[in-house]
Amino acid sequence: MPAPRTYDIAVLPGDGVGPEVTQAAQTVLAVIGDFFGHRFRFHEHLIGGAAIDATGDPLPQSTVDSCLAADAVLLGAVGGPRWEGGKRRPEEGLLGLRKAMGLFANLRPLQVSPVLAHRSPLKREIVEGVDLMVFRELTGGIYFGERTRTAEGATDRCEYTVVEIERVARAAFKTAQQRRGKVTSVDKANVMETSRLWREVVTRIHAEEFPRVELEHALVDSMAMHLIRKPREYDVILTENMFGDILSDEISVLGGSIGLLPSASLGESGPGLFEPIHGSAPDIAGKDIANPVGAILSAALMLRHSLGLDDEAGSIEAAVAAVLSAGQTTADLGGTLGTRAATDAIVDAIRAIHWAAAHRIQMHWA
Ligand code: NAD
Ligand code: IPM
Ligand code: MN
Repeated sequence: MPAPRTYDIAVLPGDGVGPEVTQAAQTVLAVIGDFFGHRFRFHEHLIGGAAIDATGDPLPQSTVDSCLAADAVLLGAVGGPRWEGGKRRPEEGLLGLRKAMGLFANLRPLQVSPVLAHRSPLKREIVEGVDLMVFRELTGGIYFGERTRTAEGATDRCEYTVVEIERVARAAFKTAQQRRGKVTSVDKANVMETSRLWREVVTRIHAEEFPRVELEHALVDSMAMHLIRKPREYDVILTENMFGDILSDEISVLGGSIGLLPSASLGESGPGLFEPIHGSAPDIAGKDIANPVGAILSAALMLRHSLGLDDEAGSIEAAVAAVLSAGQTTADLGGTLGTRAATDAIVDAIRAIHWAAAHRIQMHWA
């Protein structure tokens, strides 16, 4: 177990429900710190609409510098109707930060809890046991190509380099080796040149470096259908930036709510960025009703992937599983708890898990 130490965490609450859910994640991390003897120092910085309001810039340079200097970054969400149509957009801040930190691999795990299978709009027998990991390429594609706009029309350019595809493919194959050994690479190779390159490069990396992993290719339109029809058949889903954005929101409903899904954005080295996959949810912001689980599970991914604290991450995940099983949920999952009460329930579950563990050790010694 790593020795206890102090970790500097850059916190970017952002907009809408962002501040509510990052606060929940910080509350849980502080409790984990108490139990395991770590200190998490939180440093808040501006991003998105909040940064536009304060500075005119959705990504102040001071935020980038602080994130690069931190051990890891926790982010809430950016965006909202207030900033639509403005000269700068909140979303530019998040995209710029991902690029500045070199975060090319976005991991979005989904496990459907048996106790929540009935909350899914799909039949229980389709969703029960689903265990997926989406690997979304995060710093390339149409998100970062040149855009133009004239009175007659507009363009968005989609570009991928071989190196950009190779590095995210390697990351996905490595993860598949630790899981059930299957990668489904998703593209639109029947239409797009970037997708034809994607398929070629993924096929080569597979043959040269990971021949024992099972690889299949799927076209994104039919994949959107298969993910609803037979989601249990998939393990690691590897795809480009925009397809990954769309497919991950689609699969989030298999588990009952988009509010449950965390994500980890990782680069070759340096700090990772951890955020729920949902947005700023302006329709429910400021009401203490947002589900904090996606942000809390993102904190668990931060402990595991950036800080190497596996036991600590496991404690959070076990506590979340316990409260979901007990039906202690926010309204999106049919429960009656607010954001803060749901967070407190998770904190209580962490305490209970630790108490039980300590008790068992004493019993064993006796
Ligand atoms: P959204 O994810 O914010 O909301 C979609 C729906 O899911 C809404 O009905 C919302 O109430 C619900 N929802 C989302 N999170 C929830 C939670 N934690 N608990 C309960 N319900 C939750 O998507 P949107 O409405 O399309 O986008 C709103 C804004 O967020 C836009 O400006 C968009 O650009 C931005 N956005 C930001 C991020 C991010 O910062 N990573 C991600 C997605 C969207
Ligand atoms: C996400 C969001 C972002 C994206 C937006 C806010 C730029 O939808 O993280 O999924 O499209 O990547
Ligand atoms: Mn999205």
